[in-house]
Amino acid sequence: MSKQTLTVTDNRTGKTYEFPIKDGTINAMDIRNIKVDDNDFGLMSYDPAYQNTASCRSSITYIDGDKGILLYRGYPIEQLAEHSNFVEVAYLLLNGELPGKDQYEKFRHEVTVHTFVHENLKKFMEGFRYDANPMGILIGTLGALGTFYPNAINVNDAGERRLNVIRLIAKMPTIAAWAYRQSMGMPYVYPDNELSLAGNFLAMIKRIAEHRYIPNPKLERALDVLFILHADHEQNCSTSVMRGAGSSLTDPYSAVAAATAALYGPLHGGANAEVLHMLDEIGSRDRIPEFIAKCKEGKARLMGFGHRVYKNFDPRSRIIQKLAHEVFEITGSNPKLDLALEIEKIALQDEYFIKRKLYPNVDFYSGLIYQAMGFPVGMFPVLFAIGRVVGWLAQWQEMLNDKEQKIARPRQIYTGAASRDFVPMNRR
Ligand code: CMC
Repeated sequence: MSKQTLTVTDNRTGKTYEFPIKDGTINAMDIRNIKVDDNDFGLMSYDPAYQNTASCRSSITYIDGDKGILLYRGYPIEQLAEHSNFVEVAYLLLNGELPGKDQYEKFRHEVTVHTFVHENLKKFMEGFRYDANPMGILIGTLGALGTFYPNAINVNDAGERRLNVIRLIAKMPTIAAWAYRQSMGMPYVYPDNELSLAGNFLAMIKRIAEHRYIPNPKLERALDVLFILHADHEQNCSTSVMRGAGSSLTDPYSAVAAATAALYGPLHGGANAEVLHMLDEIGSRDRIPEFIAKCKEGKARLMGFGHRVYKNFDPRSRIIQKLAHEVFEITGSNPKLDLALEIEKIALQDEYFIKRKLYPNVDFYSGLIYQAMGFPVGMFPVLFAIGRVVGWLAQWQEMLNDKEQKIARPRQIYTGAASRDFVPMNRR
């Protein structure tokens, strides 16, 4: 076997260095040894937005962006979406293996009995303005939730960690549904623990005056699959925030609130809402070419297209495309779907998108499904967060157990003024 090292010559000094290559990477700290002289700090790598930096070792999710492969703990996303359910997938992501029957029942029971929240949290949520955005409500409430569990700060206590992971997964749908009810000016609906996680969420969203809300099993299953598809996606923006915030050993509620804030942005979890806005802006088929031209001129982005990692196709978007049609059979057809399909067809044949390897991502269809199910656009990233909280927590646990991890603290290249003396205001 060839030697697994990298030899580099520093042309400033003529010195040669040899670094080990492990798992296709060199250790960034090794290059610090490259110095012009003893006073030199040492060489750093410059990588804005971490486009080519592995920040951790992880055994949770594998993505092959070129081949369109997504595995959770080794299991293909297509198989999990077809045969599993969100609670089982949560167990898998958190524990590394699929649960046996008893393990599953215990876990399912736990994430069910913890769905209720303290009444004071309800009062806290009621304090948000009548038209507050549900994602803003979710972020704020998750931070507040941590104040009910002061022991959550003991993140090095495995029992405490596990309890708060269960609480977060269980309470997320309740807070998400109540954020919706708050933004709609509707009374909050308490959890129905006889229902599945997705069914209970739908009941807390939809129930009006009926004694008991029975969700449509197909819509319940579609939502459950959407939660599975969103559960983890390795080191994406919000997960990096979860790890980064968690690396200071803050409590998981604060770290999840931070990750949720990162998810809010239109380039991440907010993208599916942007797809809807874009479809509204385009309006009709005849205006598609005009919008595509704007994209090519760099004046617009085709929302729901492109991915930092998938440069061929997003396997989640194939599952979701099929799901979309199943949902529309129940909810009725949607003119936006036809428009979206037409845009997809045009873009996939267009040189600009082909050359840049821009394909539909998970958000392209998820927004359409959510809309057909009656969710307002402001709820789309909230729905994303219900699934993704599992991934955040699995990654957080992994980070805390990783002896190589420390508080996250990148370096910078300083481009500001050199040291200078303060000038009093009357002399400026
Ligand atoms: N529409 C038009 N042009 C695009 C798009 C798009 N959606 N995405 C990328 N490009 C162009 C971009 O202008 C650039 O062109 P050029 O080389 O001529 O300057 C080239 O493609 C590379 O783009 P980039 O911004 O360097 O790519 P990136 O890997 O940094 O960005 C992305 C990835 C997802 C932020 C971007 O594709 C995008 O903004 N997409 C639209 C928003 C979206 O759908 N986001 C959801 C991401 S998937 C959900 C998740 O996992 O969070």
